[in-house]
Amino acid sequence: MNAISPIIAPVDTAPLRHFVRRLAELIDSVRHQHEILASGSALLARLVAIDGWLPDDYAEPSATRYQQYLLHCDSRERFSVVSFVWAPGQATPIHDHRVWGLVGVLRGAERVQRYRRLDDGSLVPSGEEVLLEVGKVDAVGPDIGDLHRVANGRSDGPSVSIHVYGGNIGAVERATYAADGTPKRFISGYANRVLPNIWDQP
Ligand code: FE2
Repeated sequence: MNAISPIIAPVDTAPLRHFVRRLAELIDSVRHQHEILASGSALLARLVAIDGWLPDDYAEPSATRYQQYLLHCDSRERFSVVSFVWAPGQATPIHDHRVWGLVGVLRGAERVQRYRRLDDGSLVPSGEEVLLEVGKVDAVGPDIGDLHRVANGRSDGPSVSIHVYGGNIGAVERATYAADGTPKRFISGYANRVLPNIWDQP
């Protein structure tokens, strides 16, 4: 007798499709980065307020390191949307972005520590560490402070956050930093080779 595979219904990715459309319209319609950050934060807050639209393949943690899955890249590389998936204990080094960025928490929590540069070039924490819970959105970028370190805010399970950047972030040449300010060049790439199909509409 043949085994019968369970039929797994695909998740409805419409919220992500709508978000991508709205963000493209926003970028078409405004001139200044602060307008993108303000209105884009509201759009992202709406996206992460409701779970259930992210396919499981893009929420899969790895024991090796945090995962950055590309969900969508604008055809003109004006923005990209990624899911960050953190296992307990995982964190980034201090790093920059070189483009604007928005961080929204979909599951679990994310800890964010900003940094600033002293005259001698070294980096020190700027303000208190922030714990971003589900539904919360934070912003980074060259105009508003571009250095931070991000970690899973949960010690008992994975967390998933949705990040949006003002470029094709996996291809942006940027840097991680030691505490003394020494930069190390990196291009992050993405963990996935295929994208979720968000355009298959009923
Ligand atoms: Fe970052």
